[in-house]
Amino acid sequence: CERQDGKPFRQRLLVVANRLPVSAVRRGEDSWSLEISAGGLVTALLGVKEFEARWIGWAGVNVPDEIGQKALTKALAEKRCIPVFLDEEIVHQYYNGYCNNILWPLFHYLGLPQEDRLATTRSFQSQFAAYKKANQMFADVVNMHYEEGDVVWCHDYHLMYLPECLKKHNTNMKVGWFLHTPFPSSEIHRTLPSRSELLRSVLAADLVGFHTYDYARHFVSACTRILGFEGTPEGVEDQGRLTRVAAFPIGIDSERFIRALELPKVQEHIKDLKERFSGRKVMLGVDRLDMIKGIPQKILAFEKFLEENPYWGDKVVLLQIAVPTRTDVPEYQKLTSQVHEIVGRINGRFGSLTAVPIHHLDRSLDFLALCALYAVTDVALVTSLRDGMNLVSYEFVACQDAKKGVLVLSEFAGAAQSLGAGAILVNPWNISEVAASISQALNMSAEEREKRHQHNFHHVTSHTAQEWAETFVSELNDTVVEAKLRTSK
Ligand code: ADP
Ligand code: G6P
Repeated sequence: CERQDGKPFRQRLLVVANRLPVSAVRRGEDSWSLEISAGGLVTALLGVKEFEARWIGWAGVNVPDEIGQKALTKALAEKRCIPVFLDEEIVHQYYNGYCNNILWPLFHYLGLPQEDRLATTRSFQSQFAAYKKANQMFADVVNMHYEEGDVVWCHDYHLMYLPECLKKHNTNMKVGWFLHTPFPSSEIHRTLPSRSELLRSVLAADLVGFHTYDYARHFVSACTRILGFEGTPEGVEDQGRLTRVAAFPIGIDSERFIRALELPKVQEHIKDLKERFSGRKVMLGVDRLDMIKGIPQKILAFEKFLEENPYWGDKVVLLQIAVPTRTDVPEYQKLTSQVHEIVGRINGRFGSLTAVPIHHLDRSLDFLALCALYAVTDVALVTSLRDGMNLVSYEFVACQDAKKGVLVLSEFAGAAQSLGAGAILVNPWNISEVAASISQALNMSAEEREKRHQHNFHHVTSHTAQEWAETFVSELNDTVVEAKLRTSK
C-alpha cells in the first residue's frame, strides 16, 4: 500500500498496556529520566517495528502535580508514549491488589491469596471496582488519541475490562486483546468471583490471542462452561456474534541479540567474565524476582546437585540475576527474604574463602551486559512453576551460536512447546529431577549440544516478535472485514 506522498502506508497501532516500555524516575520538579522497563511484554513489543505505533500506559510512578505531569507527558512523547496517570490509591487497589495479588497468581495456578480468603469479599470488591475504574481511565486516554482506521491492541491481564469500555464508546473501533500469561484451566478461572464479567468484557474484542493453543482452549471452555456461549473452531459465538480466539506464540527480536554480540563492549564483557570464571562451568538464571519463576526451587535443586556431585564443587558457579519486581506486594517481599536466606545458607555450606557457588544479584542488568552473560553461559536454568511463554529462554538461545550451551527448561513454561525438542524439560517442583538434569546438562556431549541448539536456534530466529505482531494485526484486520461481510449478508 502507498500513501499519496509515495511513502509506504504504515497502519497506526495504538498499543495499550499497563506498563510503558520506559519507566519514569523524577529528577526535579519538571525533569524526568526514562529507563527501559523489565518484562517479556516490553521486550517483545520493543521488537515490533513495522507499524506507526503509539504506546499508551502507566509510567510506573505517581505524579500528583500538574507541572510534573506536563513535563513527563512531553518527555514520553519523544518515545511515542502516552501516559495514563494513576493515583496512589488506584495503584494500590488495581495494580498491587487486583492485578498482582489476585489475577497474576490465579492465572499461574497459585490460587487466590490465602490470608485474604476470609476477607475476600470485601477486599475483592473494592479491588475489582478499582480495576474497572483504572481500565476506564486507560479507555479515556485511548479515546482521546484514537483516529479512524487505527488498530487498538490491548495487552495482558491488567486490561481485561478494556475491550468492553472501548467498544461501548465506539463499536467500529478495531480492538484486539492479547494475554501474556497462561490462561488457566476453566476449573481455576471458575474460582474467581468476577469470572463472568471479565470473560464477557474480553469477548467484546474482535480478536483474542494467547501464546499457546492450550491457553486459547482453556479460555474457550471457560466461556462455554461459565457463560454458556458456544465454542467453535474460530472462537466463541454468542447470538450470532463471533469473537475470534487463536494462538499467536510470541518471539524476540533475535537479530538485536545476535548483532550485539559483535559489539566491542560486549566482547570486552565476555572476556572479563571468562577470566573471572575460568576453570568453572557457568550456570545462569535471569528472572524477575517473582514466585512464578521457581527461584527457591531452582536454588534448592542446585544445592542437591552439589550434595550429590562433590566433584563439581569448585568447578561450577550459578549466577542468578533477579530483578526486583512489584515490591509493594507482600508475597514478593516474602520471596526476596526467602531467596536470600537459601542463598546464604548454601554459600555458607559449600563456599570457600576464595569462591562461592552462587552469585545472586537483586538487580537488573543492562542489555549489553546481559548479552555477554548469555554468551558465556554453559547451562541456563529456566525453572518457572508456570510462565506464559518465557523470553529469557529465547534470549539465551539467540546468544549461544558459538558456545551451544544447554537449556534446562520447565515443562510449565509456554516456551516448552517451542523449545522443548532442544531443551532438557523438567518438572520444576521435582528438585531431584532438576538436580539430575543439571548433571546431564554439564556432562552432555558436544554433538548432542550442537543438535539441540540447532533446533532451538532455528526456532528463535524464525519466529520473531515482528512476525508475531504482524500476524496478530493482519488477523485482526481480516477478522473485522469478515465480520462486516457476515452482518451485511
Ligand atoms: P516475564 O515477562 O514474566 O518477566 P520473560 O522471560 O518472558 O518473563 O521476560 C523477561 C524479560 O525481562 C526478558 O526480556 C529479560 O531479559 C528481562 N529481564 C528479566 N530479568 C532481568 C534482569 N535481572 N536484568 C535484565 N533484564 C531482565
Ligand atoms: C509480565 C507481565 C507484564 C508485565 C511484566 C513486568 O511480563 O505479563 O504485563 O509488564 O511481567 O511486571 P510489572 O508488574 O513490573 O509490569
